[in-house]
Amino acid sequence: MVERTLSIVKPDAVKAGHTGDIISMFERAGLKVAALKMLHLTPDEAKGFYIVHKERPFYGDLTKFMSEGPIVVLVLEGEDAIKMVRDIMGATNPKNAAPGTIRALFAADIERNAVHGSDSEKSAAYEIPFFFPSIEIMGL
Ligand code: CMP
Repeated sequence: MVERTLSIVKPDAVKAGHTGDIISMFERAGLKVAALKMLHLTPDEAKGFYIVHKERPFYGDLTKFMSEGPIVVLVLEGEDAIKMVRDIMGATNPKNAAPGTIRALFAADIERNAVHGSDSEKSAAYEIPFFFPSIEIMGL
């Protein structure tokens, strides 16, 4: 099924100059960039994006990290895009990420892990409109 998913190049990876490499890994796998922008979240905006994790012990640190510098957000589109992006990213904790995945290549630890991708259709349905109104998302 053709899907759309939301991905974020996180502040650590933007700062380290990995934005282009990360986007090109998605494109080389056949995913299409349907929307793209760079922005700098406030702490409250980061809290809103990660609201699903608000009871987790790492919520404060995570939202502080996500608002420490610019991020690049993108909508990726393709067959099974949600799982495909997660496979290309690798495991959340880079210690467990398969060789060649984005997190194996670029992530420092479980928090500063370079990239985000929606984990389900339900998450994508919250995360895509969080950043992009429909007129900013290109069709097939
Ligand atoms: P992400 O895919 O953006 O989804 C939620 C984020 O929370 C995750 O990547 C990590 O950056 C962070 N995260 C998840 N688990 C932990 C944890 N145990 N400790 C710190 N951060 C975590």
